[in-house]
Order: sequence, then structure tokens, then C-alpha cells
Amino acid sequence: MDNRLFIFDTTLRDGEQVPGCQLNTVEKIEVAKALESLGVDVIEAGFPVSSPGDFKSVVEISKAVTWPTICALTRAVENDIKVAAEALQYAKHKRIHTGIGTSDYHIKYKFNSNREEILERAIACVAYAKKYVEDVQFYAEDAGRTDNEYLARVVQAVIKAGATVVNIPDTTGYCLPEEFGNKIKYLFEHVDGIHNVTIATHCHNDLGMATANTISGILNGARQAEVTINGIGERAGNTALEEVAMIFKSHRDLDIVTNINTQKITGISKMVSNLMNMPVQPNKAIVGRNAFAHSSGIHQDGVLKNRESYEIIDPKDVGVDENSIVLTARSGRAALKHRLHVLGIEMPKEDLDKAYESFLKLADKKKDINDDDVLMLAGKHRIKDARIKLDYLQVTSGVGIHSVASVGLIIAGEKFEACASGNGPVDAAISAIKNIIHRKMLLKDFLIQAITRGSNDVGKVHMTVEYDNNHYYGFGANTDIIAASAEAFIDAINKFPN
Ligand code: KIV
Ligand code: ZN
Repeated sequence: MDNRLFIFDTTLRDGEQVPGCQLNTVEKIEVAKALESLGVDVIEAGFPVSSPGDFKSVVEISKAVTWPTICALTRAVENDIKVAAEALQYAKHKRIHTGIGTSDYHIKYKFNSNREEILERAIACVAYAKKYVEDVQFYAEDAGRTDNEYLARVVQAVIKAGATVVNIPDTTGYCLPEEFGNKIKYLFEHVDGIHNVTIATHCHNDLGMATANTISGILNGARQAEVTINGIGERAGNTALEEVAMIFKSHRDLDIVTNINTQKITGISKMVSNLMNMPVQPNKAIVGRNAFAHSSGIHQDGVLKNRESYEIIDPKDVGVDENSIVLTARSGRAALKHRLHVLGIEMPKEDLDKAYESFLKLADKKKDINDDDVLMLAGKHRIKDARIKLDYLQVTSGVGIHSVASVGLIIAGEKFEACASGNGPVDAAISAIKNIIHRKMLLKDFLIQAITRGSNDVGKVHMTVEYDNNHYYGFGANTDIIAASAEAFIDAINKFPN
């Protein structure tokens, strides 16, 4: 069997489905180009029928990217497939990803149907997609919980109908690694024609086994791994691209190779985390802040004597730049531009000028500017066109006194001011904003995250605001955590329909 593993990245589809992770088209193009230079084989760019925004993103990514295949998701519905084909019209290499649930749970409760009818729908959707594109991938949703005998019948039928790739998702993250590997093995042993197509794994992480299941599937014959950067995705997420790439790079004995340029992993991980406002857990394998940090004295001593005593990966192999220049107030525009470039961000001159101004202000408050700060500064300029902006915020608070805030907002170019008291400084700031924007809003989730460590650090605030029975996600980042909270609240309001 061929030892080349195809990497199918679904950060922009399964990853982007996560509440609060939505990107606009420009940001999606930025991620798609970074995925291209990382070396992924397929980019799942969206689900075109789901919204005009998704449709547009698939169109624009198709124009912007050259080498990877661009894939669009559909249900087993003719109109979905027609719309996907239209969205893919500019792609140099295109693929439609269509499919249907095959487990008895899906057949009975989702479709109120039976196995024979679902088999017919599976064949029909592949045949219909074949009218538009040559490369058709079929997914058997919830294959992880699908009876193997029935799954083999479905896989054989869709291969006969023209599928070029068959995806075996463990949609609910239920399988054990051995069970999932055996499922793939079973298919290879029981499906005619399976050697003429690529079998794909698509594992979710509900029980923390997504990567283990993916590896088990590959060791049993699958040759496409469906993954996301940082493992983001529905619920507990998908298999992490960086884990699969580094497992096969580290275990050369397994003789599986990918096209991933692993030195770009850290840059794209930070880019995705920053654009999606989705923090990476510090102990996350490969890309977590502590992935290469040795804190115990014994480990430090061992690493200093010989790196390989405690490190199985050379940090440079994933682009961790140990000698990265820490920027300070004395760093020039060129140093900032270079750092942005290393982190995978190219900016037009006017945006760079503005980012540099903000950089100098931040460097005044904070001695060393690290990569997370630089990414935060780059991200801030993405929201420069917001309708409502924070002009100023002053808060008095302390122990034994009531907090009072006065706030100034610029709304569509006009200035508004208000004061309010509250139960703590954040409450006072938010009440003052509410005194300007008279809508019935309810603060739901509120999360403060320090970017690195020190007391002069930039804090990030994530929040969800309920308005008119919908939830809107807001994000703010500032060395002043009260200002970051006010910015996050305003960011959420900016997303309300007018
Ligand atoms: O998890 C899943 O089953 C999916 C399919 C749509 C491929 O994301
Ligand atoms: Zn999925």
C-alpha cells in the first residue's frame, strides 16, 4: 500500500462551526493561504448552501488558492450539491463532499427512515455530484456507531456510483482506537473496489481519542486524515493536524509520509487561535505554550546535558523559534514587520503603520512584547471599521466603595457619553455602555484570560451577550482588563443586526 498520507484540513468548515469562531471571508482567505503554504492536500472551505457568507468564502478561497484541492460540504440533497458546484467554479482542483448518516440512530431518529432507503439516497447523492465534478467524496456520518456489515454495503455502493474518496467519520467520538482500526480493516477486507479509492478518517475528540483513532485508522489502511489546526471543531473538537503530522514525522518506522512543512505549524497555530479568539490550552501537544517548557530541575538538567533525554521533538521542527526576538519600545517598524511575517501575517503599509502605533503604546505599558501580543495587535486592526467604538473609559473602584464608570462611545462617527455605578468595575463599565445603547442585553458568559504571565500583561476577554433571543460573541484585548471587558461587550453589540 502507498505510504503517502493525504491531509484534509477542515478548520474552515468543522472548526469554524464552533460558536464564537466565525471568520469573515478575508480572514478565511488568510487561513487558506497559510494552509496552502503548510502543505495540506485538501482544504474544506465551507458548506456553501448553509449561508451566503459560506458560499462567498468558498468562491473566494477557490480563487485565492492554487495547489490544494478545494472541497465543499453538502447534505445528500440535490440543491446543496448544485450550490456547492457553483461555489467551486473557480477552483483549480475541486471536490464535492456529500453524504448521509448511516448509523441506526441517524436512520431512525434523524431521517425516520430505514437502511435500504438510506442506501439509495447515498448512491443518488454521489451520482448527482458526479454530474458536476469528477472528484466526489462521500461521508457516512456516524460511521463510528454504524454496524460494520451495513457500512460495508454503503461503502461498496458509493464506490460503484463513482465516489473517489470515502470518509468514515467517528462523528460522536465514541470509538476505541482498536475498534476504529478494526472498522477500517473490516472495510478493506469486505468491500470490492476499495483499493481504487482513498479511505478517510474524520474523528471527533469527545472521549479524548480523536488522534489515537485517526492513527489506528491509518495503520489499517486509511490514507486521508481529516484534521483541524489546534484540533478545533464541534464540541470537544476534531483530530489535530499538528499531532498527526508530528506522529508520523517522529515515528519514521511507521513509514507514512505527509506533505506538511512542519516548521510552519507554530505560526499557523497562533494565527488560527488569534483569528478565532480560541485560546490553545497551555499543555496542548505540539502547540501549547508549555509543550517544550521543562520546569522541574531534573528535566532541565537532563535537557541541558542532551536535549533528547526529555524531548522527542526538536522545537525547531515545528517552528518554535527559541531565539525569537522579543520586541521592546525601541524596536523599529521593520522588526515588527519581520515578526508579523514570521507569524504568517502580511499587512498593507497603512495597516502596518497603525499596528506600529498601537505597538508603541503597548510597549510603553509592557516591557517585552511577545508573539501573542503581536498577534493581538494585528487582530485589533481587523475591527477598525466597527460601527461602535470605545472612545474613553474611566472607572473608580476599590475596597469598601461602589464602582463608578464614565464612558465615551463613538457611534457612526458621533460621540455619546454616560456614567453608571455598579457592583464592581466591569459591572459599572457595562452599565454605562447600556446607558448609551438602550437595548435589552444580557451578559451570559464572561471569561478572562491572561496572554502570558506578568502583571503588566495583556488580558483577553471573551463574552457572550444575549439579545433578542440570539447569542452574540464578543472579544477584547487590553493591558487594562476593565477596558478589555468593555471592548468585548462593544464587539458583541457590533454584531447585532441593525
Ligand atoms: O463529524 C462528521 O461526521 C462530519 C461530517 C459532515 C463529515 O463533520
Ligand atoms: Zn465532523
